[in-house]
Amino acid sequence: MTTKKHSDAVRVGVLFSSTGFTSKIERSQMEGTLFAIDEINQNGGVNGREIIPFYYDPASSPHAFAAYAEKLIKRDQVNVIFGCYMSSTRKAVIPIIEKWQKLLFYPTPYEGFEFSNNIIYTGASPNQNSFFLADYMASHYGTRVYMVGSNYIYPYESNRIMSDFMTNFPGGAVVSERYMDLNAGREDFRSIVQDIKLARPDFIFSTVVGKSTQEFYLACHDVGLHPDEIPIASLTTSEAEISEMKSGVAAGHITSAPYFQSIDSKCNKDIISRFKKSRFYTVEPNMCWEAAYFQVHLFANAMKKSNSDDISQLLPHLLNSEYDAPQGKVKINPHNNHTLLYPKIGMVDNQGQFSILKEVSQGVDADPYFVNYSPPGVDNDDQ
Ligand code: ACM
Repeated sequence: MTTKKHSDAVRVGVLFSSTGFTSKIERSQMEGTLFAIDEINQNGGVNGREIIPFYYDPASSPHAFAAYAEKLIKRDQVNVIFGCYMSSTRKAVIPIIEKWQKLLFYPTPYEGFEFSNNIIYTGASPNQNSFFLADYMASHYGTRVYMVGSNYIYPYESNRIMSDFMTNFPGGAVVSERYMDLNAGREDFRSIVQDIKLARPDFIFSTVVGKSTQEFYLACHDVGLHPDEIPIASLTTSEAEISEMKSGVAAGHITSAPYFQSIDSKCNKDIISRFKKSRFYTVEPNMCWEAAYFQVHLFANAMKKSNSDDISQLLPHLLNSEYDAPQGKVKINPHNNHTLLYPKIGMVDNQGQFSILKEVSQGVDADPYFVNYSPPGVDNDDQ
């Protein structure tokens, strides 16, 4: 089957930074998106209609994300945008998407406590990553946590949640909570890592994102902070950030995420193999790449049924829809627009991949407002 081009093509917006301090991880999201679009087009498009992506480089700037979202909608006439990594950029895009009644697919773990009927959230909410991380760290390392984050909303809010979790354990404490500029380099982290050495917490909770991630891990490595004694636990440090570090710098540190490239399933291995042979592969596949990939398929499958990408017609077919993603069968919750995912705990190995230490046997529904969750360590029927 060939796809029809030109006037009846499906125009979609793609907003990920190819420059700026989060460009590495956002380029992986761009690659996951374009790879999925290419797969769909190769297989006949959406009911014979080719998907054509329109994209700009918002360079990690919330202001540029908002401006380009509006340009995609007004000038390029898109109804759907795939995009955003930092929560500050998603928050900047929401008013635009809502004003024009368009739909944003957001493929990034975030701090939760949000709902927009104009967003489909495909990354992890705190009950799908922080919860498991807190539980794992408390039972394997201890409950005294030192928090280091980049200076914006996702780290503040994620630290608030992690603080609640840790202080709920007997003896649990937040030893310190520090924030650094998004541009922070290795030297900028020096006083923090010296302080960590003196304070001797049980673990570090890092919500440092983007380019600074490698700088922070390196600074810890420089002063001899050993992961067996004081590991770094993260929700965002992925194969993409680790690939920027010298071999072994991240080894032994921990990340909680629903997807690691090392997942040993036929579906994951087949997709990784196809992706790595494709022209799109430049950044290591990771949790954000995977969400960016499967959300395009969720969109295309829903649109095959609605035959329209207008939000009012598309949304009823998206809600409750499922897709066999590399992590397992994901499903969009019709009450909160978030996605059922498969939480895991991984430890970085010497090859920059993750050994999976713990995983759930069944998918975990997103609960972005913690309606059904007590803190880890307390009875949780859903676990
Ligand atoms: C993030 O800002 N949601 C990683």
